[in-house]
Amino acid sequence: MQAFSTLSAARGIDHLIQLDHQSFWDLHDRFRNSGADPYAQQAIAIEIIREVSVHSVAEDIVLYTVIEEQEGKEVADDMRQDHLKVRDQLAQLDAMSVSDTGHAVLVERIMQELRAHAYEEEHRDLPMLRAKLGDDKMIELGAKFAGAKNLVPTRPHPGAPIEPTATLVAGVVVAPVDKVRDLGREFAERKVPEE
Ligand SMILES: [Fe+2]
Ligand SMILES: [Fe+2]
Repeated sequence: MQAFSTLSAARGIDHLIQLDHQSFWDLHDRFRNSGADPYAQQAIAIEIIREVSVHSVAEDIVLYTVIEEQEGKEVADDMRQDHLKVRDQLAQLDAMSVSDTGHAVLVERIMQELRAHAYEEEHRDLPMLRAKLGDDKMIELGAKFAGAKNLVPTRPHPGAPIEPTATLVAGVVVAPVDKVRDLGREFAERKVPEE
């Protein structure tokens, strides 16, 4: 039974979200340590933009819908507002290069806000969901979250709608455009596994 419960936890939405957050912190460390190599640093910034954009929209669609059901609209909207703010900052970062004044400061600001936001998810929302919903539902949500990550835009779209259905529709419309725009962009490697 131990192996089964470990496997179950491994596929839950809480575990997948924590792995994404770990990847953000790993990329942040690598960004800070690559100041001597602007090409590597630019690729890391681009990977941060891609991972955080995809993660935040997938959460809007899957996680915050369930949070709204369980904790109410106010809590869900509060988290959605954090995402809108971060996506706005990511769009600013996307328009800059590492050689631009203020680029590193903006990366620090984004990461600082993300850490506070991710802390709330990991210590308040996700444990609450696991306690209320149980293993099977967390796995089902994990599969939905992983599926959503494949459909949503790879670039930040500030002002994109935050209602789940509208987000999904808008995401599916802009995702292919983003993927074409991504051709030729150099992304740093993700080192933290996705699952
Ligand atoms: Fe979030
Ligand atoms: Fe998150």
